[in-house]
Amino acid sequence: MPPSIPTRATASPLFVPAKSDRHTSRTARAHLASARDQARNANRPETRATPSGLDPDLRATYPAAGRPGPASARGGSLKLPAHRMTTATASGAYPFLAEGGLGAQGIYIGRDVHAEAAFCYDPFSLYGRLDGFTNPNILLAGVIGMGKSAVAKSLAVRAVAFGYKIYVPCDPKGEWTVVARELGGQTIALGPGLPGRLNPLDAPARPSGTSEEDWRGEVRKRRLLLLGSLAKTVLRRELHPMEHTALDVALDEVVAHAEAGGSTPLLGQIAHVLGSPDQLDAALGEPSGRLGTAAEDLAHALRRMVHGDLAGMFDAESTVAFDPGAPMLSIDLSRLGGAGDDTALVLAMTCASAWMESALADPDAGRRWVIYDEAWRVMRHVALLERMQSQWKLSRGLGIANLMVIHRLSDLLTAGDAGSRGRALAEGLLTDCSTRIIYRQEADQLAAASSLLGMTGVEAQAVSALTKGRGLWKVAGRSFITQHLLHPRERELFDTDARMHG
Ligand SMILES: Nc1ncnc2c1ncn2[C@@H]1O[C@H](COP(=O)(O)OP(=O)(O)OP(=O)(O)O)[C@@H](O)[C@H]1O
Ligand SMILES: [Mg+2]
Repeated sequence: MPPSIPTRATASPLFVPAKSDRHTSRTARAHLASARDQARNANRPETRATPSGLDPDLRATYPAAGRPGPASARGGSLKLPAHRMTTATASGAYPFLAEGGLGAQGIYIGRDVHAEAAFCYDPFSLYGRLDGFTNPNILLAGVIGMGKSAVAKSLAVRAVAFGYKIYVPCDPKGEWTVVARELGGQTIALGPGLPGRLNPLDAPARPSGTSEEDWRGEVRKRRLLLLGSLAKTVLRRELHPMEHTALDVALDEVVAHAEAGGSTPLLGQIAHVLGSPDQLDAALGEPSGRLGTAAEDLAHALRRMVHGDLAGMFDAESTVAFDPGAPMLSIDLSRLGGAGDDTALVLAMTCASAWMESALADPDAGRRWVIYDEAWRVMRHVALLERMQSQWKLSRGLGIANLMVIHRLSDLLTAGDAGSRGRALAEGLLTDCSTRIIYRQEADQLAAASSLLGMTGVEAQAVSALTKGRGLWKVAGRSFITQHLLHPRERELFDTDARMHG
């Protein structure tokens, strides 16, 4: 009989010699298999052609069929042993995979990049619904030009549709003015040569249900707090006990005088009394003359508000009344120069926010957003941080959501050395933000950001690769990568790149 002729031609015998030992033939077979896979995959396109004409923001990261090409890990070449775990463990191992979204309630932000779903957010509606969501405050951090202000403005514009009111106590670039105008709100521009004046010592209207006497006490407390903050910011130190007394006495003197004449107290009058030792000592009934001497530094500190670079702005009757019905109010401080030293900006913001706070203190005024854009510029000033922290603490009681915009998480650390009061205040602000939105961070910032926010390795990696408008939203421990989508009209209004494009 002739030897049987093989009916199928195969190349294997060429690669796998018949008489070789087991190990050699196994290695040769493995080489052949990998060469075959390589040849098969070489013809596949690495990525599919993206459909043209779509808005790049709306385009899906991957086609509906999933990742194309060898990276899909399909095709049977990837074999892993079966591993069982609960979904709770799986979501810890890879936080984005099992995320179901925050529901449809709230302000539309854009697209959840991993879930391919709409992403909505509203701190007021999440409060009480989401475990660990203890306050409505938001921290927003990201490098320059990634769209932090744009997302803050979208939140503001879209929140107005829900009946919320928007307050921007400090707008160092003047970029919120156009937003306020479009929403039918109010902007107060302050700066040298401008007509706007705010008297931070204005007494707000007494809320119903508060007795006259209680309210007087409250107004006095706020005024003292403001004077203390201003003095501390200029002097860059805590006040001595005698200085506190001097402020106290000077304020009472000026208020008594103003009330007798039916006018409002002014900062200039307080500076004047502080600079008159005899008047101070006489008011306290202190014949030794010590109080007058102790108040010298204070008098010079407050003089800056009256005669220095902020002359006039905060030392006259207010030219505008707070309109509680307006949907938005912003204070434009872009004319304040601000080269190098931000102290003038901080003083102006302290006065402006004090003026605004007295109006914000009404718990019946509905839900409000207070937005601190470019807050990193004021983070070094402990007195302002103290004021911000008290606002943060009151947020739930007053129905206010605070949004603070900074560049890096390490901006929070510039408030002071470890263990200092400034650092504790800044870290407290972070703790009191149940929502943290992280836009792109520089590589050298990732370690600090991870430790401050408790980001996982996967999250840190994602943050380093975020593109414009895309951010990691950490809402009470849950994580989303969200692409903020702008309406064409919003894009036009929020454009801060116009000058770059000529
Ligand atoms: N989601 C987005 N889609 C498209 N364009 C965007 C988006 N977000 C922002 N932009 C555009 O990018 C530019 C920069 O945005 P924006 O001013 O908000 O950045 P920023 O992070 O606040 O920068 P800075 O740190 O300088 O304040 C703007 O012109 C804005 O219109
Ligand atoms: Mg900005």
